[in-house]
Amino acid sequence: MEKKWWKESVVYQIYPRSFMDSNGDGIGDLRGITSKLDYLKKLGVDVIWLSPVYKSPNDDNGYDISDYQDIMDEFGTMEDWSELLEGLHARGMKLMMDLVVNHSSDEHHWFIESRKDKDSPFRDYYIWRQGKDGQEPNNWTSFFSGPAWQYDEETDEYYLHLFSKKQPDLNWENPELRKNIYDMMTWWLEKGVDGFRMDVINLISKVDGLPSAKEGGGSEFFMNGPRVHEYLQEMNREVLSKYDVMTVGECPGATVEDAAHYANVENTELNMIFTFEHMDLDSGSGGKWDVQPWKLRDLKDVMTKWQKGLEGQGWNSLYLNNHDQPRMVSRFGNDTAYRVESAKMLATFLHMMQGTPYIYQGEEIGMTNVRFNLEDYNDIEIHNMYREKVTEGGADHDKVMEAIHYKGRDNARTPVQWDSSENAGFTKGTPWLKVNPNYKEINAVAALADHDSIFYYYQKLIKLRKEHDIIVYGTYDLILEENEKIYAYTRTLGEEMLLVVCNFTENTPFFELPASISQKPAKLLIGNYHIENSRETESFTLKPYEARVYLLKR
Ligand code: NOJ
Repeated sequence: MEKKWWKESVVYQIYPRSFMDSNGDGIGDLRGITSKLDYLKKLGVDVIWLSPVYKSPNDDNGYDISDYQDIMDEFGTMEDWSELLEGLHARGMKLMMDLVVNHSSDEHHWFIESRKDKDSPFRDYYIWRQGKDGQEPNNWTSFFSGPAWQYDEETDEYYLHLFSKKQPDLNWENPELRKNIYDMMTWWLEKGVDGFRMDVINLISKVDGLPSAKEGGGSEFFMNGPRVHEYLQEMNREVLSKYDVMTVGECPGATVEDAAHYANVENTELNMIFTFEHMDLDSGSGGKWDVQPWKLRDLKDVMTKWQKGLEGQGWNSLYLNNHDQPRMVSRFGNDTAYRVESAKMLATFLHMMQGTPYIYQGEEIGMTNVRFNLEDYNDIEIHNMYREKVTEGGADHDKVMEAIHYKGRDNARTPVQWDSSENAGFTKGTPWLKVNPNYKEINAVAALADHDSIFYYYQKLIKLRKEHDIIVYGTYDLILEENEKIYAYTRTLGEEMLLVVCNFTENTPFFELPASISQKPAKLLIGNYHIENSRETESFTLKPYEARVYLLKR
């Protein structure tokens, strides 16, 4: 397998609005991030992925961009951005920017021009259609509830928006538009950025004729569409191949077969993609908000499918949460009695797999979900869904609030808890989104003062990755497939073997090394409990949420 720096790296995602506020306006900013670079260096991460920092009216917190080559006022200036980049590079870290080019803001000058008249050269930068019998051009629905079309009186046509109506979809069929995007990417690369995370990049090609769906929201006509690989190959040829950069495409609805194209080993498109399959395990047939309990067996199936499916074919990204997902310890672990143990177990489970691990801000101190009242949420997805389901649809308030508490995106967006002072040390002003009330107990200062903290456990995991090639390059094999409580797997590289054992429950299941494995556990690399009897390496009783990683020997 070809060695690459981006395979050996650990990425840390920053959601700038919630990371650190330097000027007391209640909103995180670039200088706030720069002030925490030593903290990130101490953790040991290699790459920072910045969620969008571009000019934006913030209908979707920066994922609606009105100028791709300028900085959002609330976040600071281009000088602040350059200082951040320099600070990262000086510490040997890299910067990956968010690239949001499936759509722009409706306040982008392209759209302002496009909207004005049908003959504008920018008209075709977006997807405009006439209505059908006084209705939308087709029945596609927006990810943020309601129809994916907005009627515009100015020219008596509708424009497509797969997200909010302030996020019109760009028309990738237009070569001029594509060239503009490639030029903009080159401009950032020339400024020294080290890569891009590409927002919903597998939605950029829509099926010709934009047909109505027989059922559902129409995603089969825009997910992994007919020209998406052509566009990405062009982008790769025109831009990416000229730089030594890292790319990851966010790809809802992509299968492992799709991923083998997007993240192919010839590197003609992207380095890796974000799959959603493991994020959908607790969604019922009604979609994201139809919450169902997830099952360990399903998690094994999905993770193993991706680990084996991309073996030698591509490269995995590894994540259990981000700014769109609930906190991993609340979702897959136990955020009360075993918060620390389960956070460490989940980290072990993920970082020992094959792929590039992503840590989402606050994960390294075990931040948890929140339970706010509706009015304390900010997220457009939450409010649109509530309006559609409860206000207009008559659904039960309590039931919908339960789903929001479990899955709402603001769970991940509460400010990072730096210390036990007011507002968790995030701001001297009023935070744009309330701080999680548990900040007095869960915060970075407390974590740094405790040598047994989740923070230091992550630090150790990252360090191990640098010391053992097998953690990066070893092949993955699931063992104990049928076990309902333990997720165990091996990694193999040449003569070496690694054994990873994770108890996903608060019970105490018994682990026994399958007879098929001839090597014997020799050295405990890491574990989240202090193990008294180190002789018990082939069979042992696991403590609640215990995780162990052994190097095996013949
Ligand atoms: C995916 C982003 O991660 C999410 O935050 C955003 O709302 C949508 N794409 C639209 O850009």
